[in-house]
Amino acid sequence: EMMREISGINLIEEQLTEILGIQKVIIVPGDSDETNFVKEEIGKACADMLASCLGKENIIAVTGGTTMACTAQMLTRKMGEGRKMLFVPARGGIGEDVKNQANVICATMAEKTGGTHRVLYVPDQVGREAYESLLKEPTITEVLDIINSSSIVLHGIGDAITMAQRRRTEESVMKIIVEENAVGEAFGYYFNENGEIVHKVPTIGMQIEDLESKRYVIAAAGGKSKAKAIKSYLKSAPTKTILITDEGAAKEFLKGA
Ligand code: BG6
Repeated sequence: EMMREISGINLIEEQLTEILGIQKVIIVPGDSDETNFVKEEIGKACADMLASCLGKENIIAVTGGTTMACTAQMLTRKMGEGRKMLFVPARGGIGEDVKNQANVICATMAEKTGGTHRVLYVPDQVGREAYESLLKEPTITEVLDIINSSSIVLHGIGDAITMAQRRRTEESVMKIIVEENAVGEAFGYYFNENGEIVHKVPTIGMQIEDLESKRYVIAAAGGKSKAKAIKSYLKSAPTKTILITDEGAAKEFLKGA
């Protein structure tokens, strides 16, 4: 705590909460673009925030990505003691390496906390017909119901182009993302600098408007290179959003303010 006050991080957190117009901002020292350890610190801060949001029974919807993967590693047995923890992917598969997929992250989170998890097996590119029949599969609709009743959402935010490339997005869609000047990405939605949605990865599970009904929404993303992305997403994010970020991104926000 002492260190945080001396370095003035507390003050910056308050300023940014105001500037970004959200519930709360937590900043960890350093820049995760430069030091890998900082991403682990974001994960730790995200895990602590989650711990403070828990009730007796918790359904937690989680997205994929390296920041969420780091967060999963920081969850503890103690967090799950005396309460129910059920982790579920927020949306269907959207093109990640296995270790960064929400299914795997949820499994780790369940293991770490002594909780349970559910998987959502949906291929990345499904045609309309396959999509509609998937929605009739009881094993899938059951998981969709759980996602719907989740009260806590944990998610990452990505740079639009980085995410589009990581997902091996087809050329025609890539063109839209570039031409529409997408800068940020979250939940498979791409946003321009004004926070307007310019593209959406078609998949099942949580839709962005569903966030409004959640009790807690915790976003974790850091690094100077993600500052624009985070800012763009937060323009349309629910005001209840709690952002866990790092000094690298935070300093960029202040420059742009
Ligand atoms: C992906 C999510 O898995 O991770 C995206 O689908 C998110 O919505 C991204 O933006 C963030 O990844 P990272 O590795 O930058 O934490």
